Amino acid sequence: MTSQIPDLSQLQHRHSSKWRRFSHDVLPMHVAEMDFEISPHIRATLARMVTESDLGYLGPIPELNAAVAGFAKRRWNWTIDPNHIRLATDVGVAAVELFRVLTKPGDKVMVNSPVYTNFHTWIPEVGAIIEDAPLKRESGWRLDLDVIDAAFANGAKVLLLCNPQNPTGTVHTHAELSRLADIAAKYSAVVISDEIHAPLTYGDSEFVPYLAVSENARKTGITITSSSKSWNTAGLKAAIVVTASDEMQQVVSRTPEAMHWRASLLGAFAMVESYDNSEGWLDATLASLDANRHFTLSQFAEKLPKARMSLPAATYLAWVDVSDCGFGENPAAYLLEHARVGLESGTNFGKQYQGFVRFNFATSHENIAEAISRIAAVAK
Ligand SMILES: Cc1ncc(COP(=O)(O)O)c(C=O)c1O
Repeated sequence: MTSQIPDLSQLQHRHSSKWRRFSHDVLPMHVAEMDFEISPHIRATLARMVTESDLGYLGPIPELNAAVAGFAKRRWNWTIDPNHIRLATDVGVAAVELFRVLTKPGDKVMVNSPVYTNFHTWIPEVGAIIEDAPLKRESGWRLDLDVIDAAFANGAKVLLLCNPQNPTGTVHTHAELSRLADIAAKYSAVVISDEIHAPLTYGDSEFVPYLAVSENARKTGITITSSSKSWNTAGLKAAIVVTASDEMQQVVSRTPEAMHWRASLLGAFAMVESYDNSEGWLDATLASLDANRHFTLSQFAEKLPKARMSLPAATYLAWVDVSDCGFGENPAAYLLEHARVGLESGTNFGKQYQGFVRFNFATSHENIAEAISRIAAVAK
């Protein structure tokens, strides 16, 4: 099986944010969507449900819990109790509803920048305050456990962890997560582990689910995730919340029942198809992305050696330091205007990252090469 990418002219007919945010002379390399066609199993299930007018409210879906547990066991040897899985509208809603239970306005929630744009919007949504414990760049964008310890000591109640990390592609190790769990337990803090990018971990790294790490991880941790990122169905709206201890199950039991009802029927059944029947598609897609990450690295090295990119260990996002390329104070805005390439600005991931852009390489080599040529052509 190979992952297919439609021509640019066909992609431009898509209705999603990637294809509607900019006019069509802009090559969109910004939002985290892939250009690959979706898994045939997901497509068939969705087509059948639409054809049969099977579009009511989402009710019981025991298939999903079995599918999630089966995938986690096969892929990561992680044992999940199917009774400890809850549905949510999306990962963002899951995070916000958990913050509502775990914090009151003015409480601190920790993040590790650079980190996914919406981590910076979900926390203020409930009146909580962001406490940043940045990744250490010198060691290849890794968790700084001493700074994390200090942030908990300074009153942070919750850490919203990103594993693997968007935008750096860092995959946190067993040793790091185990120490993190011990630190969280010491402060009776909670770690909400966003693992939405996990299935997109490349073969040369090992993804470690937070809840599989230790007893302290299970006592302090809640995992939020979805198949929507790895199987490219973000518009379908469904996610899950997983726990592995009574303490954390109690926390989740205080979130509204409505999280289930507010998920989409199509999204939930697409998730079943993803986990149960689309692992072959995932592996084929990952092989294409693996080639793309090396191609992206070599294209930057060849055409714009002043840009600094390291190979991500997971997912399809390149975190590129362009501070020496002469793109001014806001490189993403400069490149949109002058190169007609759409990128995410580094500041979306933390205000100190002005010199960075995030480049989405889940597309054809042709589009990657064209985008990097356009970027290199306007460098000074
Ligand atoms: C780390 C991370 N979490 C969550 C999301 C979005 O998830 P959802 O659409 O389910 O809220 C993204 C999207 O790129 C992401 O990178």
